Amino acid sequence: MPSLHDSTRGRILFGGDYNPEQWPEETWLEDVRLMKEAGVNSVTLGVFSWARIEPRPGARDFGWLDRLMDLMRLNGIGVVLATPTCSPPPWMGSRHPETLPRDEDGRTVWWGSRQQFCPSSPVYRGYAAALTEDLAARYGGHPALRMWHINNEYCTHCWCDETARHFRTWLRARHGTIDALNEAWGTAFWSQRYDTWDEIIPPRRAQYMKNPAQVLDFRRFTSDALLECYVAERDIVARHTPRTPVTSNFMPLWSGQDAWKWAEHEDVVSVDLYPDPRDPHGGQYNAMLGDMTRSQARGPWALLEQAAGAVNWRGVNHPKPRGLNRLWSLQSVAHGADAICYFQWRQSRQGAEKFHSGMLSHAGEQGRTFQEVKRIGSELALLGPLLEGTGVRSEIAILHDWDSWWADQQDGRLSAHVDYPEIVRSWHRALWESNLPTAFARPDHDLSAYRLVVVPHLYLLDDIAIDNLVRYVRDGGTLVSGFLTGVADQDDRVRAGGMDARLRELFGIRTVHEWWPLDADETVECDGFSATLWSEELEVSTGETVASYGSGELTGLPAIVRNGRAWYVSTLPEPAALRALLARVAGDAGARPVLDGLPQGVEAVRRGELLFLLNHGAKSVTVPVPGRHQDLLGKRCVDGSVELERHGVALLRARTPA
Ligand code: GLA
Repeated sequence: MPSLHDSTRGRILFGGDYNPEQWPEETWLEDVRLMKEAGVNSVTLGVFSWARIEPRPGARDFGWLDRLMDLMRLNGIGVVLATPTCSPPPWMGSRHPETLPRDEDGRTVWWGSRQQFCPSSPVYRGYAAALTEDLAARYGGHPALRMWHINNEYCTHCWCDETARHFRTWLRARHGTIDALNEAWGTAFWSQRYDTWDEIIPPRRAQYMKNPAQVLDFRRFTSDALLECYVAERDIVARHTPRTPVTSNFMPLWSGQDAWKWAEHEDVVSVDLYPDPRDPHGGQYNAMLGDMTRSQARGPWALLEQAAGAVNWRGVNHPKPRGLNRLWSLQSVAHGADAICYFQWRQSRQGAEKFHSGMLSHAGEQGRTFQEVKRIGSELALLGPLLEGTGVRSEIAILHDWDSWWADQQDGRLSAHVDYPEIVRSWHRALWESNLPTAFARPDHDLSAYRLVVVPHLYLLDDIAIDNLVRYVRDGGTLVSGFLTGVADQDDRVRAGGMDARLRELFGIRTVHEWWPLDADETVECDGFSATLWSEELEVSTGETVASYGSGELTGLPAIVRNGRAWYVSTLPEPAALRALLARVAGDAGARPVLDGLPQGVEAVRRGELLFLLNHGAKSVTVPVPGRHQDLLGKRCVDGSVELERHGVALLRARTPA
């Protein structure tokens, strides 16, 4: 099976989406000159080129793309070639309106933007397959081709009649009989019983709350329907070029795609990262998304898009202050990325993204953005050979799962403030701030490599996952679980006792009597710390109460329970308390931070033999580092400590005594 290594060939891929159809061909020559100046070795072509390649049904205009592919080859720049199937041309919707998605209300999603296709439409799939076939036949043997990029950020949802037919087929495969579906969806409630498959529709606008098991299955189906589109195109390109890796770029921690499942079908797992430059925890967020993508990839991963400066889709779009682009780029490398790429090479002057930054901004080659891009390019060129074949080790895994997220995001919950990604972020942050390297895993993965497994909040756990967690602790692992975990089974059926019986036994809890969610601005006092969001009325059995509630209705009752190596945290402790708790448990479990005694805001990551020190803080700092090192970026000797400026990075290699 091809891998990212087949594309990188000992280098870190550096470059970005290149959309040259926006520019006259003279500009292409200037682009290539500047790309070389910046050390760009990879461009992603064709992402949005469907209308240019196929201006009318069945027509092909490849001449411009031929010239571009050759231009790249002549200049030693590799091409990640996209199938342009994410943005069908206007002729598709105009001639085949059934290819256009319908929203929950049955309203058509029109052309005039992008991504307007129904993933279940055979007409859309037919055109996409034909175009992919021709692209692969034409460029499969081109020497500039390094990787295939299928579609782009698969994210469309559709509720149309074709989708309904497809959904029924998917449901038959999952449930087998209509009786089994009725049982799984609990349709005995509210007179929802289905007599025939044809009565089933996607969860469209309804009078009141929808059936949660139906919505959960529809989320699963939608991810799978998009995956079918990906696999169909992947199979075509793989038939032409079995040795060229294939990817499709994920949006990070995006609810629409089960990335665990998708990653199994990709040669290269890639992602687009756009943390907010104003977010005080943006560095941690970037680290977390890197950890997550590396875990999905089970090795090196590709950062296929980031912004050199501002994006243009937030309410207010701030540029990256000096040094931040470099800091986050090198941070992604530290977390295992072997490709650092951007959306997009040259900033647009027209269209919806003209205020979205590019590597080459409106300020041009003398602009601050481009100068910083050049610096990053030259540093990555240095790092490629040093990092080849290296990885990042973590002794701690955070469990994360899409099924649980989907089930958790439904109507009819006890609290609308429970925001799953935010909770995962809080727990990762607690570990990150202690410099404890972290991986992610799915609850049914083999966890035996980890000393500590943490579950921020997994409302839904199926039997396989529960047995896996119980086995993990029985075999010597340490488990810490956050609130409202193990409550529902795979069909969102609540388990008796407020939590699965096997988990209650594991945590030493007899019963979860009631859940007591907190209001948005409410806190609850516990022994020595305060907590937010949630609390639970627990009755322990064999568990020892580590902390009790000290205010409110639950005063005196257990908040944190420990039963040997299994811990249950029934609330969300404030950040410092969660950090202290996890640091203590990690220490007991034998998981070590990368470095002790780091100043606040400084992150240390080890990749292979190299130690990355990254200053996310607003001020320069002195970082103590035991021993003698060489800073490969600063080209300086480091003896006992190193100075890092604001957003500064040092890359240390231990010096062996002469
Ligand atoms: C996504 C898309 C790109 C671009 C960027 C803007 O990542 O894939 O085409 O729109 O967002 O941030």
